[in-house]
Amino acid sequence: MTTSGQSIRQSPVIAQAIDAIVAEIDAKTASITDVRPPTEALRADYDALVKAAGDTRGWPLLYPMLGSGAGRGALVELADGSVKWDLVAGIGVHFLGHSHPEMLRAQLRSSLEDTTKHGNLQSGTLPYAFAKRFVELAGRSSRLKYAYLTTSGAMANECAMRVCMQKRNADRVLAFEHCFMGRSLTMTSIGDNAAARDGLPVNTAVDYIPFWNAALAERMGGQTKFIDWTLQQLATAVGRYPGRHACFVMELIQGEGGFNVPPKAFLEELMKACKGYGIPVWDDEIQTFGRTEQMFAFEHFGLGEYVDVFCVGKMTHACAALWTEEMKPRPGLLSGTFIGSTVDFEVGMTVLDVLEKGNCYGPEGIFAQHHAAFRAQAEALVAKHPEWFPKVELAPELIGGVGGMMRLTPFGGAKDKIAAAGKALFDEGAIMFWCGHGPYHLRLLPPMPAMRVDEWPRIFEVIERGLARVA
Ligand SMILES: Cc1ncc(COP(=O)(O)O)c(C=O)c1O
Repeated sequence: MTTSGQSIRQSPVIAQAIDAIVAEIDAKTASITDVRPPTEALRADYDALVKAAGDTRGWPLLYPMLGSGAGRGALVELADGSVKWDLVAGIGVHFLGHSHPEMLRAQLRSSLEDTTKHGNLQSGTLPYAFAKRFVELAGRSSRLKYAYLTTSGAMANECAMRVCMQKRNADRVLAFEHCFMGRSLTMTSIGDNAAARDGLPVNTAVDYIPFWNAALAERMGGQTKFIDWTLQQLATAVGRYPGRHACFVMELIQGEGGFNVPPKAFLEELMKACKGYGIPVWDDEIQTFGRTEQMFAFEHFGLGEYVDVFCVGKMTHACAALWTEEMKPRPGLLSGTFIGSTVDFEVGMTVLDVLEKGNCYGPEGIFAQHHAAFRAQAEALVAKHPEWFPKVELAPELIGGVGGMMRLTPFGGAKDKIAAAGKALFDEGAIMFWCGHGPYHLRLLPPMPAMRVDEWPRIFEVIERGLARVA
């Protein structure tokens, strides 16, 4: 017996229609092959659209960036007809780039269902299929066993926080300095960024532990000294509030904090110490998931055994909090109207397909190849224009990151210069963002599965032109 729902999904008529739409979009986007300036005739309308967009919320858009609805690979077309390299991809969200055929198919399939949203009370089968698959992937090298799906990273983090607090019956949180966790009141309370909680109450008590800093470690006399010093700070915080810590939340590689990659030993010693204190380790992979040289950052570092709670979002579109058997919350703790839209789960499944089958990982995988190509181009740029790249005392590595998290530090990492560089690069045709809290860095989260490694020299021609405007 086939249900009507199944017969729709298996219909050859619908399959043909989807093929026809994807082929038509392919034809319509074939002319998007390189960066180009705005079309003069569209400019006035576009400026009005950008202004109107800012006016709806009361402050201007950071970049005057409104998509036309089309693109190709890492190239995105804006509504003014211009084409730019999209190297930040919605801060990692558009991981398969623009007008990717499999993304189009996922979007089209998602339009076949009777409703758009799945809820905790009433849902189709897709959210749970996504959750099951994600838990299976995570479970290959960790003890993570259950998932609760949400519509944003901040909400996944809220759920993870509740799981930890209920389990431990505790009210304090351990977090790294310079961490970022999202924009809810609780997440801005924990996130180490004063501007994000300007005028807001702090509703959660946090004890901050320093994150890895290679320059400081060197000054202290090496990695072991730095780790011992950090462990001492952890011991002090735990001793000051015995039994009060619900968790230690960790980004294994900090995103907003500056794409800072620590050595495994730093994370492992802290995780081991947490185990000793009975404090759950919560790994926030909302920015790192999928991007390192393994699918999970905990796999990249070989630390899955220590992870008790985990969050994902951004590139999977469907967001989730995961936890182990021991961390299982009591029924009633987590719920809400929406689990997400059909398109979130179709897209999430498509992204997982690409990550699993696309030769993405390992030292020879395409993500490592992209990272190497980025570094080679960046090193050549630094060598060509050393005056743009003065040494930065607190971050001597001018080119940093791992896999698809890439950073470059021109102009001494000065905030105003990096922001000006972001805008100049945008005008030249390369969309990037920044990260760090001083020094600041140019941040790239490129849509690697949709790019060719040989596109990096062309991308760096644009980057060179953009930086020249600021220098
Ligand atoms: C590490 C980390 N956690 C949480 C979040 C919040 O995710 P969202 O913006 O989807 O709420 C972000 C977003 O940048 C993040 O980088």
